[in-house]
Amino acid sequence: MAELLITGGAGFIGSHSCLMLLEAGHNLVVLDNFDNSSPESLKRVLELAGPSAADRLQVVEGDIRSAGDLERAFEAAPAGRPITAVVHFAGLKAVGESVREPLRYWDVNLCGSRQLLESMQAHGCRSLVFSSSCTVYGLPEQTPISESAAIQPINPYGHSKAAVEQLLADLAASEAGWRIARLRYFNPVGAHPSGRIGEDPRGIPNNLFPFVSQVAVGRRDCLQVFGGDWPTPDGSGIRDYIHVMDLAEGHQAALDVLLAEPPQLLSLNLGSGQGHSVLEVVRAFEVASGRSVPHTIVERRDGDAASTVADPRLAAKRLGWRTRRCLEEMCRDGWTWQQANPEGYGR
Ligand code: NAD
Ligand code: WQD
Repeated sequence: MAELLITGGAGFIGSHSCLMLLEAGHNLVVLDNFDNSSPESLKRVLELAGPSAADRLQVVEGDIRSAGDLERAFEAAPAGRPITAVVHFAGLKAVGESVREPLRYWDVNLCGSRQLLESMQAHGCRSLVFSSSCTVYGLPEQTPISESAAIQPINPYGHSKAAVEQLLADLAASEAGWRIARLRYFNPVGAHPSGRIGEDPRGIPNNLFPFVSQVAVGRRDCLQVFGGDWPTPDGSGIRDYIHVMDLAEGHQAALDVLLAEPPQLLSLNLGSGQGHSVLEVVRAFEVASGRSVPHTIVERRDGDAASTVADPRLAAKRLGWRTRRCLEEMCRDGWTWQQANPEGYGR
């Protein structure tokens, strides 16, 4: 059992990971400013985790860019049991928005991470799991993508993630004792099978899965498929979708390894190693939901790649972790969430 600080714990990936970490017996402090989430997600996490978790989750409303808010979060841990590790989900993640508002993205993602690291150092806490992204690889030269592929992001969001990765490497090299995992997620989707927590994007979804599920539930009319002429078997883009519960398990595995092994800096892909095309996702979602998903093929989207799929072998080797849930389960659980919460958490 460990005392953990979870930044951004109310968000999509954070909420599922908090549930799993509570179920594993850890004590959590969540720091979140609810910029892109609702406190309701954490209420539901507690409801799913059961009565034994009630006093093991403290929620601090605050901003990772604020030294004072971070101080309150570190102080929220039970007396005599200081925070031993941080899982850092907090950040902004919309590619298009990052192109329009680079200052905000660099501020939250880089300055926020820098402030967090300074507070960790001040508290003698040197264990960190960081939410990085396959976006750091940009348009990959080859796929499956291994961790040794070039880091060459192509948008401000990706630049900010790559910068934090570099900062973490510089920090680990500057001082002994840091245990850091930079986890590069591929395309997280789905929801907890209960349908009580899930992804709740604000406004028009940027990503495929929430868009498809909102079309299936009748909230939107038609999916635009960005490109039907990619060099893929059916002409639509291929991605490596990963069930959010598999991703949550990956975080647990990374924490276990970091806390058990000597200090180290890890960089690991979290993906399934299997690609699915947009049209395959549409068909799988239609089967899971029993609804039709009207779609039309339009121009390619700027900045997209034909295919990005993870080489997940290093994560399997270092963490003893691999994905277990298939596309059908991603669609089934995503649909359970969407159907039960057509307007998300009602923000
Ligand atoms: P999310 O937006 O649902 O969660 C992020 C959380 O951070 C939210 O609860 C938000 O309110 C909080 N937050 C934002 N700015 C904050 C600040 N300044 N201070 C405190 N809290 C703040 O996103 P998610 O999908 O759960 O992603 C979590 C992390 O994983 C992000 O860092 C994201 O970049 C990364 N990631 C996500 C994906 C994806 O497709 N979802 C893929 C790769 C990497
Ligand atoms: C998936 C596929 C689209 C929407 C993004 C970020 C990346 C990472 C994961 C955070 C592509 C197609 C999509 C739609 C479509 N996030 N599509 N119609 O672009 O792989 O990655 O999320 O780190 O940084 O860039 O995911 O879900 O947007 O797209 O046809 O309305 O679906 O072209 O082939 P992407 P996505």
